[in-house]
Amino acid sequence: MKLSWRSLVTDDIGVDLGTSRTRVFARGRGIVVNEPSLLAYDKPSREVVAVGMEALELEGRASEDTQIVSPLQDGVVADSYLAGKLLESYIRKARDGRSHFSRRVLLAVQSDASDIEHYALQYAAREAGVNNINFINKGLAVTLGAGFDPEDQRASLVVDVGAGTTTVAAVIHNHVIFSRTIRVGGNDLDLAITNMIKYNHGLLVGPRTAERVKIELGCAVQLDAEQTTNVKGRSTVTGSPEMAIINSIEIYEAIEPIVARIIKAIEDSLEALPPEASGDIYDRGLVLAGGGALLSGFDERLSKESELAVQLAESPARAVVRGLGVLFENQTLLRRAIIK
Ligand SMILES: Nc1ncnc2c1ncn2[C@@H]1O[C@H](COP(=O)(O)OP(=O)(O)OP(=O)(O)O)[C@@H](O)[C@H]1O
Ligand SMILES: [Mg+2]
Repeated sequence: MKLSWRSLVTDDIGVDLGTSRTRVFARGRGIVVNEPSLLAYDKPSREVVAVGMEALELEGRASEDTQIVSPLQDGVVADSYLAGKLLESYIRKARDGRSHFSRRVLLAVQSDASDIEHYALQYAAREAGVNNINFINKGLAVTLGAGFDPEDQRASLVVDVGAGTTTVAAVIHNHVIFSRTIRVGGNDLDLAITNMIKYNHGLLVGPRTAERVKIELGCAVQLDAEQTTNVKGRSTVTGSPEMAIINSIEIYEAIEPIVARIIKAIEDSLEALPPEASGDIYDRGLVLAGGGALLSGFDERLSKESELAVQLAESPARAVVRGLGVLFENQTLLRRAIIK
């Protein structure tokens, strides 16, 4: 690739501001940030004291005045000021002492994002010192990142199961012909596990514990062999720290209604696909992206229920940000992909 003078002195940056993680792609350097979408801030002064991994490490250890928060909820910016602080920190990290100009920042957004959401993101970007921001359809980004050829004349379908959202997108020859986001994802599975542990074992556990248990024992299909894991938490009866043994059957039962909801939402979207796309999808199947797609047996379950071939994308949680990177190398496509 020939590097122009312009590309040497500027930073083209693509940002996937996810509910659980923020990933940043810097043109020519690849994925330079992949950290939790978390901030620690001092409540009285509202001053940010730690961001990302550092904020996560403070969880459970910080003083009472320090609150650990995510500025996003179900894929939507819930606090523009804090989202701005998060963006600012990660964009600075991505620049890594290089040029201070940031010609362009691409931000992946849901196709049905409201004006208020766009405004919140624009505000956040301005807080982060970025004035040239372009919104890109997350559905297009994830399709490119999942490895589909943008010139392909046949329809490609990708399902991105994130932490707060599930997006179904179909693309034909550079055009997004269908894109739908449902506000359900991996976080809902964690919540179901937290509630189950509370009711079955009288133990209050934090979200990270619930997520760990999901990753260790969670499964979208019924398992024959039972596995167990230990969890520590606070007893709802005595208030003291306690431990419990959790098994994979109770995890399966706890998450099953949510898994079924995600699968149903995907199937509803498949039914809404334009007819010209349906034939291609029937022949080619679909690609799964997003970290939530890593739930054991999810691909198998979706394939069985939708009667389609299902393939898992390579490092599925990075597909959106990789797709933004692909856009930088295809200016025609990039011009067409910009929403606002
Ligand atoms: N091995 C695994 N098994 C089950 N779930 C997993 C696994 N690895 C990651 N996850 C889940 O994937 C989710 C994170 O995925 P991802 O990074 O794609 O989300 P996000 O982009 O932050 O969220 P969104 O796109 O909804 O805004 C979390 O809920 C996480 O617990
Ligand atoms: Mg995502």
